[in-house]
Amino acid sequence: MGLNLYAKIEQFLDFEDEVTKLHGVFLSVILEKKLDNILDVGCGQGSFLNQLSTLSLNSYGIDLSSEQIKICKQNGIKNVSSIPLNEVKEKYDCTTAIFDVINYIPKNGIKTFFNQMSLVLNQGGYFIFDVNSLFGFEEVAQGTLSIDLGDKFVVIDANFEEEKLITDITLFSQNKSKLFTKENDCIIQYYYERSELKDLLKTSGFEVEKIIDFNLHDSCENDKEIYICKKS
Ligand SMILES: C[S@@+](CC[C@H](N)C(=O)[O-])C[C@H]1O[C@@H](n2cnc3c(N)ncnc32)[C@H](O)[C@@H]1O
Repeated sequence: MGLNLYAKIEQFLDFEDEVTKLHGVFLSVILEKKLDNILDVGCGQGSFLNQLSTLSLNSYGIDLSSEQIKICKQNGIKNVSSIPLNEVKEKYDCTTAIFDVINYIPKNGIKTFFNQMSLVLNQGGYFIFDVNSLFGFEEVAQGTLSIDLGDKFVVIDANFEEEKLITDITLFSQNKSKLFTKENDCIIQYYYERSELKDLLKTSGFEVEKIIDFNLHDSCENDKEIYICKKS
């Protein structure tokens, strides 16, 4: 899957305001519940980890994309690694999976992923994550976008069909000889219904304390749901 290509273009997508708004909700839950010792799963380029460390909270980040972790390290974030969740050896009091991370997990892997999430948490620990609502996938995420940066050209084409968002990413980058090289890949995100997630979470030993309907892109309907779950 094209996680590394996504990492290369993420900075050009202009999502900063939305991401800050979403991170704010996660932070307020963490502060309200006085949580510390946090594992950020799918930490991306580390902006949430930075906020946690500003508040002197202990944290660690993992991301499947080696490119994202490379960018974290270039930005001076050291408490990160590119390992899958099942290789995490420590236990945490809180885990987060922010900005679509759960939607990246395929249907045949989600049960195992939630079980692994439970294994890295101490008893009574919290797992907080967001997913896209059906409206978010159908009305917000779909579409085509092109970004011309002069020496780089990005084209993104996202289509939602049969509960899957397939986002095709193409990046043209100008090299030293002024010629353009092309990279192309796709990422797939899966829609999860609330009842399906609730059942899966229960099976993995989580109690869903609260679900927050959230409007990330100021559309007319909620495009995200934020789950606050406790390892029971
Ligand atoms: C949209 S980005 C969000 C990054 C970050 N959480 C944030 O809030 O800015 C989604 C991230 O999830 C990562 N990812 C996808 N599947 C993953 C998995 N199974 N385990 C860890 N990271 C994953 C991707 O590489 C990507 O960096």
